[in-house]
Amino acid sequence: MNIVEACKHPDLFGPLFKNASWRAWMTLLRALFAIPMAKDDLALYQDCTGRTTWPKKQFKEAFLICGRRAGKSFCMAVIAVFLACFFNYRPYLNIGERGTLMVIAADRKQARTIMRYIRGLLQIPALAKMVDNERAESFDLNNMVTIEIPPLHTPQREDIPLSQRWWTKLPSPGRTIALCRLPNFCAPCAPRWR
Ligand SMILES: Nc1ncnc2c1ncn2[C@@H]1O[C@H](COP(=O)(O)OP(=O)(O)OP(=O)(O)O)[C@@H](O)[C@H]1O
Ligand SMILES: [Mg+2]
Repeated sequence: MNIVEACKHPDLFGPLFKNASWRAWMTLLRALFAIPMAKDDLALYQDCTGRTTWPKKQFKEAFLICGRRAGKSFCMAVIAVFLACFFNYRPYLNIGERGTLMVIAADRKQARTIMRYIRGLLQIPALAKMVDNERAESFDLNNMVTIEIPPLHTPQREDIPLSQRWWTKLPSPGRTIALCRLPNFCAPCAPRWR
């Protein structure tokens, strides 16, 4: 199952994306994850990016310039939950090691907002059973992945080895740029949902 299928699935994120107003975000997700385009995707993609051809490969990094209240935090939360829950990262982890998926917010307020979206998404019954622990800034999942929402992009967070780093990030207060970095080993993993 790809992220757009998850966003349309009635038992997953489907009820949250019912409104046609999410159409542009669906185009973004199809482009970001190199999912075959739907009708009208190409025109919007060309218009927003200045690029001409639909991506053939999943992006590793994307900068999104969006207006206030455009849905950045919510969509970053959806991407984070999808990446955390729908793949098997165990082959990349040593014994006892956990994968860390970070959503990096610029301040406590943004971190709180994203934490709430992620908490809400993880309460969807099909996903709730994956949550082992909720802490102040993180959720431990039962697939050896922890979603972390630290309030600041501190150097210590960068100390996490590259092999374990994948994140979505909202850089600075009031700014309208979201950076989304995807794991390059994401694609070959066996999807957990069918
Ligand atoms: N395209 C959309 N269709 C329907 N609702 C949307 C859409 N975009 C955003 N929303 C709603 O608007 C609200 C704000 O979304 P969100 O917090 O993700 O925005 P944001 O871009 O992070 O805002 P801010 O600029 O304040 O950080 C949420 O309730 C979200 O569901
Ligand atoms: Mg926000």
